[in-house]
Amino acid sequence: MADSTLQVVNAHLSAHPWLALGLQGLGALSLASALLSWTSFLFRTFLRPGTRLAKFGAKKGAWAVVTGASDGIGREFALQLAQAGFNVLLAARSTEKLDAVAQEIKDKANSAETKTFAIDFAYAGDAAYDALKSAITDLDIGVLVNNVGKSHEMPADLVDTPADELRDILAINVAATTRVTALVAPGMAARRRGLILTIGSFAGSAPAPMLATYSASKAYLRTFSLALAAELAPAGVTVEHANTYFVVSAMSKIRRASALVPAPAAYVRAVLRGLAPGAQTPYWSHALLDYVMNAAPARVVQAYTHGLHRDIRKRALRKKEREAKWQ
Ligand SMILES: NC(=O)c1ccc[n+]([C@@H]2O[C@H](COP(=O)([O-])OP(=O)(O)OC[C@H]3O[C@@H](n4cnc5c(N)ncnc54)[C@H](OP(=O)(O)O)[C@@H]3O)[C@@H](O)[C@H]2O)c1
Repeated sequence: MADSTLQVVNAHLSAHPWLALGLQGLGALSLASALLSWTSFLFRTFLRPGTRLAKFGAKKGAWAVVTGASDGIGREFALQLAQAGFNVLLAARSTEKLDAVAQEIKDKANSAETKTFAIDFAYAGDAAYDALKSAITDLDIGVLVNNVGKSHEMPADLVDTPADELRDILAINVAATTRVTALVAPGMAARRRGLILTIGSFAGSAPAPMLATYSASKAYLRTFSLALAAELAPAGVTVEHANTYFVVSAMSKIRRASALVPAPAAYVRAVLRGLAPGAQTPYWSHALLDYVMNAAPARVVQAYTHGLHRDIRKRALRKKEREAKWQ
């Protein structure tokens, strides 16, 4: 600001002391609000003790149902929940992969019982959901982890996305999660205990161009979870939506862990340590990124994401071309 402008402003404020006072008040208020938001972020992320798994029946014979339990994040939930004292029902497509995880659970947590349920959530119809209902009817389910999910093979505009990919994303992320939750929730409400944990994505918190269908499906899960959390709280059931950035896995195609991209074991440990109702961002560096993204203008975040996805698509197409040459 030029000196002459400053002089004019100073003169104006001296002539109107109430204006100076008002501006000081506004400044103090916005500073206090920024401090409050930062302190509450630090408390939520690093200090708040999460709900203990015993509340959901750990070591009391209760079961955890984990969808997409044969690999990645779901496999790690199955292992850690078994080690924490739950019996585990594992659901995914591949029977061999499910059996391998069940065996790993027996080796690492030999008091845990396991059941496996092979299901393809992309094609499951009423008969498959009836079979799942029969498989869980007699189980005291304390925890449901809605983990199964599908993303796009690579970022693409909707007009360039294969129709079956769109169909599968909606069937798995939206329909399957809703139907499995609807099968499990009544029992939890009747027992007045339970945790319904749904694995969300940053793509569901802010619109992600070139992953439009995945992004919208994850936004659905966030809204679904928050509405359900309010419905089921009076019945003593905790509903949490876990907002997640990248984690090392087959889906993310990231193989090496870093500060911002944890391995599934570290990610799941953080989720289980910080259980709380509502929308949470359980992993510390994801929470930090989420805080910064929420402070930035939405248009800037979206433009950044769009650029990132254009870049990922270019690299994925080049890789596909290279692979085609070698075949
Ligand atoms: N990894 C990340 O960076 C990241 C970031 C944000 C959110 N998430 C979310 O985290 C969740 C887990 O992702 P992930 O990275 O762990 O994935 P992943 O490693 O690819 O594992 C996916 C699991 O789901 C099962 N599955 C896939 N399609 C299925 C189908 N049609 N029916 C039944 N089961 C199916 C797979 O087993 P089968 O092949 O045997 O069926 C596997 O057990 C997803 O909801 C994802 O959106 C992941």
